Amino acid sequence: MKVKQCSCVILLYFLTLTTLSSLVASQTCKNSCGQIPIKYPFGTGLGCGDPRFQQYVTCNQEKLTLTTHTGCYPVTNIEYSSQVIHISDPSMSTCACTQTSKGFGLDWDAPFSFHDDTVFTLLDCSTTSSPIYRTNGAYDVDSNTTVIPQCDRTGAPICSFLFSCRAISMLNLPISTCCVYTPVDLGPSFEMDLQKLQCTSYSGFYSFNGQESNPENWKYGIALKYKFNVYNDYPSSCANCERSNGVCGYGGAYNTFVCNCPGGLNTTSDCFFRSLYNHCPRLLPRHTAGNFLIFSLAYFMVWVLF
Ligand SMILES: *[C@@H]1O[C@H](CO)[C@@H](O)[C@H](O)[C@H]1NC(C)=O
Ligand SMILES: *[C@@H]1O[C@H](CO)[C@@H](O)[C@H](O)[C@H]1NC(C)=O
Repeated sequence: MKVKQCSCVILLYFLTLTTLSSLVASQTCKNSCGQIPIKYPFGTGLGCGDPRFQQYVTCNQEKLTLTTHTGCYPVTNIEYSSQVIHISDPSMSTCACTQTSKGFGLDWDAPFSFHDDTVFTLLDCSTTSSPIYRTNGAYDVDSNTTVIPQCDRTGAPICSFLFSCRAISMLNLPISTCCVYTPVDLGPSFEMDLQKLQCTSYSGFYSFNGQESNPENWKYGIALKYKFNVYNDYPSSCANCERSNGVCGYGGAYNTFVCNCPGGLNTTSDCFFRSLYNHCPRLLPRHTAGNFLIFSLAYFMVWVLF
């Protein structure tokens, strides 16, 4: 009888434990999207990360995507330490494949800017009508501004290397139709509008990958910089939240900081459950405090039922 009762208690104990665990919703904000770790200011959904970034970078079916007015671009990786995000553009040309494209643009109010490492090579530009070939001081009727030469002459070897690619050489274009265009030349504009520039395609890369003369191995894509805020501070509340395995998010009418904890619980600080921990200091390592909470609740329920 005694043994039976004991196993019954254990059974009930585990039953309450599993019910309780399932009652606690799973963490809304994920700390990864596919293979890409997600940290502040990025987020995997509404209410996650920073609200300024949420509308531009989203996670759908484990795929992280950057959206701008020119299209949707897969995010290939994020370098959190240097605050750089790399994206690929399925419409761009590479050494392996050429295709027509409309270009690439960032929204003027997006919290991103082009990284200096990004080099755009405009391909198949009209040497007679493209504004990129106008000489210094010429006047552009469309934009009502004076234009400055936009092709980077020192980048000419890049055109030669790209033209050595089979896919590009097959187009049989004169090398004069190629223009190296860096974000410096883009000036304050956020746009590389190929229709306006009268080029049919472009290639973008952000690293020679240590082999400048081997365009097959260049890292194709676009590197973008981001800043946390005007002072570029990593909010300390968020740093504490992430240290406690939480994911930073926001909520409420004023989009105030929320720490989304592994159990699904939201706090305004971190997931160490300080108040509970403070009552039994040094008894438990911090990260087990959450489990301790569930265990105590389960134990309490068993106690009440018997
Ligand atoms: C916790 O915060 C996330 C992100 O803001 C939100 O989606 C979720 O509904 C919140 N959960 C609870 C239980 O309040
Ligand atoms: C171009 O600029 C001039 C002088 O600033 C202005 O008078 C003119 O209306 C502008 N034209 C267009 C098409 O915006």
